[in-house]
Amino acid sequence: MKVDVLLGLQWGDEGKGKIVDVLTPRYDVVTRFQGGPNAGHTLEFNGEKYVLRSIPSGIFQGGKVNVIGNGVVLDPLLFKQEAEALAASGHDITKQLYISKKAHLILPTHRILDAAYEASKGSGKIGTTGKGIGPTYTDKISRNGVRVGDLLHNFSEKYAAAKARHEAILKSLNYQYDITALEKEWFDALEYLKQFKLIDSEHVINGFLKDGKSILAEGAQGTMLDIDFGSYPFVTSSNTICAGCCTGLGISPRSIGDVYGIFKAYCTRVGSGPFPTELFDETGDKIGALGHEFGAVTGRKRRCGWIDLVALRYAVMINGVTQLIMMKSDVLDSFDTIKACVAYKINGEETTEFPFEINDSVEPVYVEIPGWNTDMTKMTSEDEFPEEFNAYLTFLEEELGVPVKIVSVGPDREQTIIRYTEE
Ligand code: GDP
Ligand code: IMO
Ligand code: MG
Repeated sequence: MKVDVLLGLQWGDEGKGKIVDVLTPRYDVVTRFQGGPNAGHTLEFNGEKYVLRSIPSGIFQGGKVNVIGNGVVLDPLLFKQEAEALAASGHDITKQLYISKKAHLILPTHRILDAAYEASKGSGKIGTTGKGIGPTYTDKISRNGVRVGDLLHNFSEKYAAAKARHEAILKSLNYQYDITALEKEWFDALEYLKQFKLIDSEHVINGFLKDGKSILAEGAQGTMLDIDFGSYPFVTSSNTICAGCCTGLGISPRSIGDVYGIFKAYCTRVGSGPFPTELFDETGDKIGALGHEFGAVTGRKRRCGWIDLVALRYAVMINGVTQLIMMKSDVLDSFDTIKACVAYKINGEETTEFPFEINDSVEPVYVEIPGWNTDMTKMTSEDEFPEEFNAYLTFLEEELGVPVKIVSVGPDREQTIIRYTEE
Protein backbone atom coordinates (compact mmCIF):
# COMPACT_ATOMS: atom_id res chain seq x y z
CA MET A 1 0.00 0.00 0.00
CA LYS A 2 0.91 3.67 -0.30
CA VAL A 3 0.90 6.73 1.89
CA ASP A 4 -1.47 9.43 0.62
CA VAL A 5 -0.45 12.90 1.70
CA LEU A 6 -2.73 15.83 2.42
CA LEU A 7 -1.04 19.20 2.61
CA GLY A 8 -1.74 22.91 2.53
CA LEU A 9 -0.88 24.79 -0.66
CA GLN A 10 -1.08 28.31 0.77
CA TRP A 11 0.06 29.91 4.05
CA GLY A 12 -1.65 27.38 6.33
CA ASP A 13 -5.16 27.17 7.81
CA GLU A 14 -6.60 25.88 4.55
CA GLY A 15 -8.90 23.44 6.37
CA LYS A 16 -6.60 20.41 6.58
CA GLY A 17 -8.05 19.14 9.87
CA LYS A 18 -11.59 19.07 8.54
CA ILE A 19 -10.68 17.12 5.41
CA VAL A 20 -8.38 14.64 7.17
CA ASP A 21 -11.34 13.83 9.43
CA VAL A 22 -13.60 13.43 6.38
CA LEU A 23 -11.12 11.15 4.57
CA THR A 24 -10.11 9.04 7.60
CA PRO A 25 -12.81 6.35 7.11
CA ARG A 26 -10.98 5.39 3.87
CA TYR A 27 -7.70 4.73 5.77
CA ASP A 28 -6.33 2.41 8.46
CA VAL A 29 -3.76 4.84 9.86
CA VAL A 30 -3.41 8.64 10.06
CA THR A 31 -0.07 10.32 10.77
CA ARG A 32 1.45 13.74 11.31
CA PHE A 33 4.94 14.13 9.82
CA GLN A 34 6.15 17.66 10.64
CA GLY A 35 5.37 20.80 12.58
CA GLY A 36 4.12 20.83 16.12
CA PRO A 37 1.70 22.81 18.25
CA ASN A 38 2.09 25.78 15.92
CA ALA A 39 -0.63 23.95 13.99
CA GLY A 40 -4.28 24.44 14.87
CA HIS A 41 -6.52 22.06 12.96
CA THR A 42 -10.25 22.58 13.44
CA LEU A 43 -12.87 19.85 13.14
CA GLU A 44 -16.63 20.23 13.45
CA PHE A 45 -19.16 17.45 13.67
CA ASN A 46 -22.33 16.65 15.62
CA GLY A 47 -22.52 20.28 16.71
CA GLU A 48 -19.12 20.09 18.46
CA LYS A 49 -15.89 21.88 17.55
CA TYR A 50 -12.39 20.60 18.31
CA VAL A 51 -8.98 22.17 17.67
CA LEU A 52 -6.04 19.76 17.37
CA ARG A 53 -2.42 20.89 17.56
CA SER A 54 -0.15 17.87 17.78
CA ILE A 55 -2.63 15.01 17.62
CA PRO A 56 -3.54 13.83 14.10
CA SER A 57 -7.04 14.71 12.87
CA GLY A 58 -7.92 11.05 12.32
CA ILE A 59 -8.42 10.57 16.04
CA PHE A 60 -12.22 10.87 16.04
CA GLN A 61 -13.09 8.31 13.38
CA GLY A 62 -13.66 4.87 14.86
CA GLY A 63 -10.51 3.82 16.67
CA LYS A 64 -8.07 4.24 13.76
CA VAL A 65 -4.37 4.17 14.65
CA ASN A 66 -2.89 7.70 14.72
CA VAL A 67 0.86 8.27 14.71
CA ILE A 68 2.91 11.33 15.62
CA GLY A 69 5.91 10.85 13.35
CA ASN A 70 9.61 11.53 13.86
CA GLY A 71 9.46 14.81 11.93
CA VAL A 72 7.12 16.38 14.49
CA VAL A 73 8.29 18.52 17.42
CA LEU A 74 6.31 17.75 20.54
CA ASP A 75 5.66 19.88 23.61
CA PRO A 76 4.64 17.39 26.34
CA LEU A 77 2.76 20.07 28.24
CA LEU A 78 0.64 21.26 25.33
CA PHE A 79 0.19 17.64 24.29
CA LYS A 80 -1.08 16.74 27.76
CA GLN A 81 -3.52 19.65 27.73
CA GLU A 82 -4.77 18.62 24.29
CA ALA A 83 -5.17 14.94 25.21
CA GLU A 84 -6.84 15.75 28.54
CA ALA A 85 -9.32 18.08 26.84
CA LEU A 86 -10.21 15.26 24.45
CA ALA A 87 -10.58 12.82 27.34
CA ALA A 88 -12.87 15.29 29.13
CA SER A 89 -15.09 15.38 26.05
CA GLY A 90 -15.31 11.59 26.02
CA HIS A 91 -12.47 10.76 23.62
CA ASP A 92 -9.85 8.60 25.31
CA ILE A 93 -7.00 8.41 22.81
CA THR A 94 -4.37 6.60 24.88
CA LYS A 95 -4.81 3.30 23.04
CA GLN A 96 -4.96 4.58 19.47
CA LEU A 97 -2.19 7.18 19.51
CA TYR A 98 1.45 6.20 18.95
CA ILE A 99 4.38 8.61 19.25
CA SER A 100 7.73 8.32 17.50
CA LYS A 101 10.74 8.01 19.76
CA LYS A 102 12.63 10.12 17.21
CA ALA A 103 10.27 13.12 17.52
CA HIS A 104 12.09 16.04 19.13
CA LEU A 105 10.88 17.55 22.39
CA ILE A 106 10.05 21.23 22.74
CA LEU A 107 11.65 22.20 26.06
CA PRO A 108 10.39 25.07 28.24
CA THR A 109 13.49 27.08 27.29
CA HIS A 110 12.72 26.59 23.57
CA ARG A 111 9.50 28.53 24.10
CA ILE A 112 11.37 31.29 25.92
CA LEU A 113 14.00 31.40 23.17
CA ASP A 114 11.26 31.76 20.55
CA ALA A 115 9.98 34.85 22.39
CA ALA A 116 13.51 36.22 22.92
CA TYR A 117 14.48 35.86 19.25
CA GLU A 118 11.25 37.53 18.15
CA ALA A 119 11.84 40.40 20.59
CA SER A 120 15.39 40.82 19.29
CA LYS A 121 14.15 41.11 15.69
CA GLY A 122 12.04 44.17 16.45
CA SER A 123 9.98 45.24 13.43
CA GLY A 124 11.52 42.39 11.40
CA LYS A 125 9.87 39.78 13.59
CA ILE A 126 8.36 36.72 11.95
CA GLY A 127 5.21 36.71 14.03
CA THR A 128 5.72 33.11 15.13
CA THR A 129 3.12 31.23 17.11
CA GLY A 130 5.47 31.44 20.13
CA LYS A 131 5.48 27.68 20.63
CA GLY A 132 9.24 27.19 20.43
CA ILE A 133 9.14 25.66 16.95
CA GLY A 134 12.16 27.44 15.43
CA PRO A 135 14.51 26.88 18.41
CA THR A 136 13.55 23.18 18.63
CA TYR A 137 14.21 22.50 14.95
CA THR A 138 17.41 24.55 15.24
CA ASP A 139 18.62 22.22 17.99
CA LYS A 140 17.63 19.20 15.92
CA ILE A 141 19.68 20.37 12.93
CA SER A 142 22.62 21.50 15.05
CA ARG A 143 22.58 18.06 16.70
CA ASN A 144 21.71 19.32 20.14
CA GLY A 145 18.11 18.19 20.39
CA VAL A 146 16.38 16.04 23.00
CA ARG A 147 14.07 13.35 21.65
CA VAL A 148 11.03 11.51 22.97
CA GLY A 149 13.09 8.30 23.08
CA ASP A 150 15.57 10.00 25.39
CA LEU A 151 12.93 9.72 28.10
CA LEU A 152 14.03 6.11 28.31
CA HIS A 153 17.82 6.83 28.38
CA ASN A 154 19.88 9.45 30.28
CA PHE A 155 17.14 12.03 30.02
CA SER A 156 18.26 14.22 32.95
CA GLU A 157 21.75 14.76 31.54
CA LYS A 158 20.48 15.60 28.07
CA TYR A 159 17.87 17.97 29.43
CA ALA A 160 20.35 19.74 31.71
CA ALA A 161 22.88 20.19 28.88
CA ALA A 162 20.23 21.67 26.55
CA LYS A 163 18.84 23.93 29.26
CA ALA A 164 22.32 25.24 30.15
CA ARG A 165 23.00 26.06 26.52
CA HIS A 166 19.66 27.85 26.18
CA GLU A 167 20.23 29.81 29.37
CA ALA A 168 23.59 31.04 28.07
CA ILE A 169 21.92 32.29 24.87
CA LEU A 170 19.13 33.98 26.82
CA LYS A 171 21.72 35.66 29.01
CA SER A 172 23.59 36.92 25.94
CA LEU A 173 20.31 38.37 24.67
CA ASN A 174 19.74 39.94 28.07
CA TYR A 175 16.26 38.40 28.10
CA GLN A 176 14.40 38.28 31.43
CA TYR A 177 12.31 35.19 32.16
CA ASP A 178 11.19 32.80 34.87
CA ILE A 179 10.50 29.21 33.96
CA THR A 180 10.09 27.74 37.43
CA ALA A 181 6.33 27.11 37.20
CA LEU A 182 6.41 26.19 33.51
CA GLU A 183 9.26 23.72 34.05
CA LYS A 184 7.41 21.95 36.86
CA GLU A 185 4.27 21.54 34.78
CA TRP A 186 6.39 20.39 31.86
CA PHE A 187 8.03 17.65 33.93
CA ASP A 188 4.63 16.47 35.18
CA ALA A 189 3.54 16.27 31.55
CA LEU A 190 6.54 14.08 30.71
CA GLU A 191 5.19 11.47 33.10
CA TYR A 192 1.80 11.71 31.39
CA LEU A 193 3.46 11.19 28.00
CA LYS A 194 4.98 7.89 29.14
CA GLN A 195 1.57 6.16 29.18
CA PHE A 196 1.43 6.42 25.36
CA LYS A 197 3.04 3.91 23.03
CA LEU A 198 6.46 5.39 22.27
CA ILE A 199 7.52 3.57 19.13
CA ASP A 200 10.22 3.19 16.50
CA SER A 201 7.77 4.73 14.08
CA GLU A 202 9.74 4.15 10.87
CA HIS A 203 9.63 0.40 11.50
CA VAL A 204 5.99 0.44 12.52
CA ILE A 205 4.86 2.55 9.54
CA ASN A 206 6.79 0.50 6.98
CA GLY A 207 5.38 -2.60 8.66
CA PHE A 208 1.87 -1.22 8.21
CA LEU A 209 2.57 -0.69 4.51
CA LYS A 210 3.92 -4.22 4.16
CA ASP A 211 0.78 -5.55 5.83
CA GLY A 212 -1.39 -3.79 3.25
CA LYS A 213 -2.63 -1.01 5.53
CA SER A 214 -3.53 2.33 3.99
CA ILE A 215 -2.03 5.48 5.49
CA LEU A 216 -3.03 9.13 5.30
CA ALA A 217 -0.34 11.67 6.19
CA GLU A 218 -1.58 15.02 7.47
CA GLY A 219 0.54 18.05 6.72
CA ALA A 220 0.71 21.08 8.98
CA GLN A 221 1.21 24.71 7.96
CA GLY A 222 1.34 25.16 4.17
CA THR A 223 3.70 25.12 1.20
CA MET A 224 4.27 28.88 1.31
CA LEU A 225 5.56 28.44 4.89
CA ASP A 226 8.02 25.69 3.90
CA ILE A 227 11.56 26.30 5.17
CA ASP A 228 13.06 25.84 1.67
CA PHE A 229 10.35 27.00 -0.73
CA GLY A 230 8.18 29.34 1.33
CA SER A 231 8.50 33.13 1.61
CA TYR A 232 11.82 32.88 3.48
CA PRO A 233 12.58 34.04 6.16
CA PHE A 234 8.88 34.46 6.98
CA VAL A 235 8.32 30.73 7.15
CA THR A 236 8.15 27.94 9.69
CA SER A 237 11.17 25.74 10.42
CA SER A 238 10.15 22.45 8.81
CA ASN A 239 9.59 21.05 5.34
CA THR A 240 5.84 21.33 4.97
CA ILE A 241 5.94 19.99 1.41
CA CYS A 242 5.35 16.43 0.25
CA ALA A 243 9.05 15.54 0.53
CA GLY A 244 8.79 16.30 4.26
CA CYS A 245 6.51 13.30 4.54
CA CYS A 246 9.35 10.95 3.54
CA THR A 247 11.82 12.34 6.08
CA GLY A 248 9.13 12.92 8.70
CA LEU A 249 7.91 9.33 8.65
CA GLY A 250 10.89 7.37 7.33
CA ILE A 251 9.23 6.16 4.15
CA SER A 252 10.58 5.90 0.62
CA PRO A 253 9.47 8.42 -2.03
CA ARG A 254 8.15 5.36 -3.86
CA SER A 255 5.67 4.83 -1.03
CA ILE A 256 3.85 8.10 -1.75
CA GLY A 257 0.48 7.62 -3.44
CA ASP A 258 -1.97 10.46 -3.94
CA VAL A 259 -1.03 13.99 -2.97
CA TYR A 260 -4.08 15.99 -1.95
CA GLY A 261 -3.41 19.70 -2.26
CA ILE A 262 -5.80 21.77 -0.20
CA PHE A 263 -6.52 25.48 -0.69
CA LYS A 264 -9.07 28.11 0.19
CA ALA A 265 -11.16 29.71 -2.58
CA TYR A 266 -9.37 32.89 -1.51
CA CYS A 267 -6.18 33.29 0.55
CA THR A 268 -5.13 34.08 4.11
CA ARG A 269 -1.93 34.52 6.04
CA VAL A 270 -1.22 34.99 9.73
CA GLY A 271 2.00 36.54 11.02
CA SER A 272 4.41 38.76 9.09
CA GLY A 273 5.75 38.35 5.58
CA PRO A 274 4.85 39.05 1.99
CA PHE A 275 1.35 38.38 0.67
CA PRO A 276 0.94 39.81 -2.84
CA THR A 277 -2.86 39.52 -3.06
CA GLU A 278 -3.57 40.89 0.42
CA LEU A 279 -6.61 43.21 0.57
CA PHE A 280 -6.59 46.23 2.84
CA ASP A 281 -10.10 47.34 1.94
CA GLU A 282 -13.67 46.41 2.83
CA THR A 283 -13.55 43.38 0.55
CA GLY A 284 -10.72 41.98 2.69
CA ASP A 285 -12.72 42.78 5.82
CA LYS A 286 -15.79 41.07 4.35
CA ILE A 287 -13.84 37.90 3.55
CA GLY A 288 -12.33 37.93 7.05
CA ALA A 289 -15.72 38.40 8.72
CA LEU A 290 -17.56 35.79 6.64
CA GLY A 291 -14.68 33.33 6.93
CA HIS A 292 -14.19 33.92 10.67
CA GLU A 293 -10.52 34.38 9.89
CA PHE A 294 -8.96 34.30 13.33
CA GLY A 295 -6.10 31.94 14.23
CA ALA A 296 -7.13 28.63 15.81
CA VAL A 297 -4.01 28.70 18.06
CA THR A 298 -3.21 32.34 18.72
CA GLY A 299 -6.59 33.99 17.99
CA ARG A 300 -4.73 36.47 15.80
CA LYS A 301 -6.66 38.12 12.95
CA ARG A 302 -5.69 36.48 9.68
CA ARG A 303 -4.79 38.71 6.75
CA CYS A 304 -7.13 38.08 3.79
CA GLY A 305 -6.82 38.42 0.03
CA TRP A 306 -7.78 36.97 -3.33
CA ILE A 307 -6.60 33.58 -4.53
CA ASP A 308 -3.02 33.64 -5.83
CA LEU A 309 -2.59 31.23 -8.74
CA VAL A 310 1.11 32.05 -9.22
CA ALA A 311 1.81 30.77 -5.70
CA LEU A 312 -0.67 27.90 -6.09
CA ARG A 313 0.85 26.69 -9.36
CA TYR A 314 4.25 26.72 -7.66
CA ALA A 315 2.84 24.70 -4.75
CA VAL A 316 1.24 22.18 -7.12
CA MET A 317 4.59 21.75 -8.86
CA ILE A 318 6.71 21.38 -5.70
CA ASN A 319 4.34 18.83 -4.18
CA GLY A 320 3.34 16.83 -7.25
CA VAL A 321 -0.31 17.36 -6.35
CA THR A 322 -2.65 14.74 -7.87
CA GLN A 323 -5.99 16.00 -6.52
CA LEU A 324 -7.12 19.42 -5.40
CA ILE A 325 -9.47 20.21 -2.54
CA MET A 326 -11.13 23.61 -2.44
CA MET A 327 -12.25 24.94 0.93
CA LYS A 328 -14.46 27.75 2.17
CA SER A 329 -16.06 28.51 -1.18
CA ASP A 330 -19.17 29.45 0.85
CA VAL A 331 -17.30 32.53 2.08
CA LEU A 332 -17.51 33.87 -1.50
CA ASP A 333 -21.23 33.01 -1.87
CA SER A 334 -22.33 36.66 -1.73
CA PHE A 335 -19.85 38.34 -4.09
CA ASP A 336 -20.93 39.74 -7.49
CA THR A 337 -17.39 39.45 -8.79
CA ILE A 338 -14.38 37.59 -7.50
CA LYS A 339 -10.79 38.04 -8.53
CA ALA A 340 -7.94 35.62 -9.15
CA CYS A 341 -4.28 36.58 -9.48
CA VAL A 342 -2.92 34.87 -12.60
CA ALA A 343 0.47 36.56 -12.88
CA TYR A 344 2.80 38.97 -11.08
CA LYS A 345 4.09 42.19 -12.55
CA ILE A 346 7.66 42.73 -11.35
CA ASN A 347 9.32 46.02 -12.36
CA GLY A 348 6.87 46.29 -15.26
CA GLU A 349 7.45 42.71 -16.52
CA GLU A 350 4.73 40.10 -16.23
CA THR A 351 5.63 36.62 -15.00
CA THR A 352 3.68 33.52 -14.07
CA GLU A 353 6.69 32.00 -12.33
CA PHE A 354 7.02 32.34 -8.56
CA PRO A 355 10.05 34.60 -7.99
CA PHE A 356 13.04 34.17 -5.66
CA GLU A 357 11.68 36.81 -3.36
CA ILE A 358 8.41 38.66 -3.02
CA ASN A 359 8.98 42.32 -2.25
CA ASP A 360 7.13 45.59 -2.74
CA SER A 361 7.84 45.59 -6.48
CA VAL A 362 5.56 42.55 -6.97
CA GLU A 363 2.11 43.55 -8.20
CA PRO A 364 -0.66 41.00 -8.73
CA VAL A 365 -2.31 40.80 -12.16
CA TYR A 366 -5.97 39.86 -11.74
CA VAL A 367 -8.72 38.39 -13.84
CA GLU A 368 -12.30 39.03 -12.77
CA ILE A 369 -14.73 36.16 -12.55
CA PRO A 370 -18.51 36.45 -12.15
CA GLY A 371 -19.64 35.42 -8.66
CA TRP A 372 -22.35 32.79 -8.16
CA ASN A 373 -24.36 34.77 -5.61
CA THR A 374 -25.99 31.65 -4.22
CA ASP A 375 -26.02 30.16 -0.73
CA MET A 376 -24.19 26.85 -1.29
CA THR A 377 -23.88 25.82 2.36
CA LYS A 378 -26.68 23.25 2.24
CA MET A 379 -25.73 21.68 -1.05
CA THR A 380 -24.85 18.00 -0.96
CA SER A 381 -24.01 17.19 -4.58
CA GLU A 382 -22.12 18.81 -7.42
CA ASP A 383 -25.33 18.53 -9.49
CA GLU A 384 -26.62 21.51 -7.48
CA PHE A 385 -23.65 23.76 -8.25
CA PRO A 386 -24.55 27.06 -9.94
CA GLU A 387 -23.23 27.57 -13.45
CA GLU A 388 -20.86 30.38 -12.37
CA PHE A 389 -19.39 28.15 -9.65
CA ASN A 390 -18.73 25.37 -12.17
CA ALA A 391 -17.08 27.95 -14.41
CA TYR A 392 -14.82 29.00 -11.49
CA LEU A 393 -13.85 25.35 -10.88
CA THR A 394 -13.10 24.78 -14.56
CA PHE A 395 -10.99 27.95 -14.61
CA LEU A 396 -8.99 26.77 -11.59
CA GLU A 397 -8.51 23.28 -12.99
CA GLU A 398 -7.21 24.73 -16.26
CA GLU A 399 -4.89 27.15 -14.48
CA LEU A 400 -3.53 24.52 -12.08
CA GLY A 401 -3.66 21.45 -14.33
CA VAL A 402 -5.11 19.20 -11.61
CA PRO A 403 -8.75 18.23 -10.94
CA VAL A 404 -10.64 19.66 -7.96
CA LYS A 405 -12.03 16.49 -6.38
CA ILE A 406 -13.52 17.87 -3.18
CA VAL A 407 -15.37 21.11 -2.48
CA SER A 408 -16.07 22.23 1.09
CA VAL A 409 -19.09 24.49 1.58
CA GLY A 410 -19.01 24.93 5.35
CA PRO A 411 -17.03 23.97 8.45
CA ASP A 412 -19.06 20.87 9.34
CA ARG A 413 -17.93 17.37 8.38
CA GLU A 414 -21.18 17.01 6.42
CA GLN A 415 -20.65 20.15 4.35
CA THR A 416 -18.28 18.36 2.00
CA ILE A 417 -18.96 17.50 -1.63
CA ILE A 418 -16.93 14.78 -3.34
CA ARG A 419 -16.89 15.27 -7.14
CA TYR A 420 -16.45 12.83 -10.01
CA THR A 421 -17.95 10.05 -7.93
CA GLU A 422 -18.68 8.00 -11.06
CA GLU A 423 -14.93 7.22 -11.47
P1 GDP B 1 -6.13 23.90 9.20
O1 GDP B 1 -5.07 24.47 10.07
O2 GDP B 1 -5.69 23.78 7.77
O3 GDP B 1 -6.71 22.61 9.72
O4 GDP B 1 -7.31 24.98 9.19
P2 GDP B 1 -7.88 25.78 10.48
O5 GDP B 1 -8.67 24.86 11.30
O6 GDP B 1 -6.80 26.53 11.15
O7 GDP B 1 -8.76 26.88 9.78
C1 GDP B 1 -9.83 26.55 8.95
C2 GDP B 1 -11.09 27.22 9.53
O8 GDP B 1 -12.11 27.20 8.56
C3 GDP B 1 -11.65 26.46 10.72
O9 GDP B 1 -12.27 27.38 11.57
C4 GDP B 1 -12.68 25.53 10.09
O10 GDP B 1 -13.72 25.18 10.99
C5 GDP B 1 -13.21 26.41 9.00
N1 GDP B 1 -13.65 25.72 7.78
C6 GDP B 1 -13.15 24.60 7.20
N2 GDP B 1 -13.77 24.36 6.03
C7 GDP B 1 -14.66 25.35 5.86
C8 GDP B 1 -15.58 25.68 4.82
O11 GDP B 1 -15.68 25.03 3.79
N3 GDP B 1 -16.34 26.81 5.01
C9 GDP B 1 -16.24 27.58 6.11
N4 GDP B 1 -17.01 28.67 6.18
N5 GDP B 1 -15.39 27.31 7.11
C10 GDP B 1 -14.60 26.22 6.97
P1 IMO C 1 -1.76 25.12 10.47
O1 IMO C 1 -1.22 23.71 10.50
C1 IMO C 1 -0.92 29.33 9.69
C2 IMO C 1 3.08 30.79 10.76
C3 IMO C 1 3.20 31.76 11.91
C4 IMO C 1 4.41 32.54 11.47
C5 IMO C 1 5.29 31.46 10.83
C6 IMO C 1 6.36 30.89 11.75
O2 IMO C 1 -2.84 25.38 11.44
O3 IMO C 1 -2.09 25.51 9.07
P2 IMO C 1 6.27 29.22 13.82
O4 IMO C 1 5.54 29.31 15.13
O5 IMO C 1 5.96 28.01 13.02
O6 IMO C 1 7.76 29.40 13.98
O7 IMO C 1 5.76 30.51 13.00
O8 IMO C 1 4.42 30.43 10.43
N1 IMO C 1 2.37 29.52 11.08
C7 IMO C 1 1.14 29.22 10.67
N2 IMO C 1 0.24 29.95 9.97
N3 IMO C 1 -1.21 28.07 10.05
C8 IMO C 1 -0.32 27.31 10.73
O9 IMO C 1 -0.52 26.01 10.98
C9 IMO C 1 0.90 27.90 11.09
N4 IMO C 1 1.97 27.46 11.80
C10 IMO C 1 2.86 28.46 11.76
O10 IMO C 1 2.05 32.57 12.00
O11 IMO C 1 4.07 33.46 10.46
MG1 MG D 1 -4.77 26.07 11.38
